[in-house]
Amino acid sequence: MAEQAPAAKPDMKALQKVMKQQISLMTPDRQKQVMALSPETKGALMTIYAKHTRRSDTITLRQVMHEVLSDYQSIATGLMTDNGEQAAGAARRLANHRLPRGGLLPYFQPDQVNDEKLSVLVSFNDAVEGNALRLADAADKGDLSTAADYYKKVTDGCMACHATFRGVPGQTPYLR
Ligand code: HEC
Repeated sequence: MAEQAPAAKPDMKALQKVMKQQISLMTPDRQKQVMALSPETKGALMTIYAKHTRRSDTITLRQVMHEVLSDYQSIATGLMTDNGEQAAGAARRLANHRLPRGGLLPYFQPDQVNDEKLSVLVSFNDAVEGNALRLADAADKGDLSTAADYYKKVTDGCMACHATFRGVPGQTPYLR
């Protein structure tokens, strides 16, 4: 019997390089905030980055979010048309969505870049990306009802992260 290959471990050296490169793109103020994060927070960020192999040098977080929304809607189309292949494909693409220029941290508000606020990122990541992958596995098996249950969990993850890191989009100072 062939020897089993060891489970692939993320290449921490390569990830540290990615993180350093992202930090080099930030303003000095933001660099200082990121460098002050604990080793645990930095490790958690690298675990998240390890699962996102598509990285852009140009696009913003908002642009990534619109891509994510398109894949999210494509999952719904797959579920509604009994097309498990579409649902699974879109869910896997969503789970490995592109990372924006500089990673996530340049797009957060100053009071969000600290150990306490960022400690929830891993659980949001599992809620969205983890459940999207579970959704894809269920859709592969033709179990669209279970896939739909995971769709709800993905939705909860999107909304929880928005409640913490985003707020209401498009607010204007010209209304009273
Ligand atoms: C890691 C936290 C996080 C998760 C998880 C997340 N978002 Fe977002 N999302 C944000 C942030 C932060 C913004 C605001 C970005 C900005 O304005 O620069 C945003 C903005 C958006 C926007 C508005 C873009 C605009 O033009 O204002 C959409 C649409 C969106 N997200 C969709 C989704 C969907 C769909 C999911 C789940 C599949 C999701 N997001 C999961 C953090 C998250």
